[in-house]
Amino acid sequence: MEATHTQYLKAMGIQVWVQRAEETTQITVPDIPESIPSQPINIQPEETPINWDTLQQKVATCTACALHSSRTQTVFGIGNQQADLMLIGEAPGADEDAQGEPFVGRAGKLLTAMLYAIDIKRESVYIANVIKCRPPENRNPNTQEMTCCNAFLKQQIALIDPKLIIAVGRIAAHHLLAIETAIGKIRGQCFKYNNIPLIPIYHPAYLLRRPSEKRHAWKDLQFIRQTLTEL
Ligand code: URA
Repeated sequence: MEATHTQYLKAMGIQVWVQRAEETTQITVPDIPESIPSQPINIQPEETPINWDTLQQKVATCTACALHSSRTQTVFGIGNQQADLMLIGEAPGADEDAQGEPFVGRAGKLLTAMLYAIDIKRESVYIANVIKCRPPENRNPNTQEMTCCNAFLKQQIALIDPKLIIAVGRIAAHHLLAIETAIGKIRGQCFKYNNIPLIPIYHPAYLLRRPSEKRHAWKDLQFIRQTLTEL
């Protein structure tokens, strides 16, 4: 196990060192505000609790924003519906749009390796995105698209009821925390989303572009591991 673990860290380009004891900022932030989309939308998904099948069906047939017309399929989310840990990314990319599963491309493979590096198997957590359809040319999702999908995400979180949420990347962190602070300033700190602890991390796609930041990511992963143990 130790050898495999070390191999994963090596694959991530991470040098292992002993973590220093450090203080962590605990900041409470408000719930996501209900914002009104700037353009008209077709259907606003209801926010009352529903079961997995109904929710999945609603996502699969959603035409609330323009992204439905360019998607191959919706990317609902995957994993353990009783997970303690829920990861929330930004939006499906080309690979996810083709396969119907979040984080399966290059960035996804790195995310899976990052989890494994702290002894967490991909199938033991739940992975979803803020939005369920691929934005064309991998552009960032806009406010209207995130607002349209927000009820779906809220219902997924309510159904899973995780002990800890990881916001994967700037877009997810800003959306969930309703703040605009740079990801470099909020990563690896514990916030609250509706009373659930939430830790933002760098997006693995960013780490692929900036491998020198992996040392920060490794520190954040260790903090996640420690936080999970203490919950
Ligand atoms: N990036 C994300 O934020 N989510 C995915 O599912 C894939 C890439």
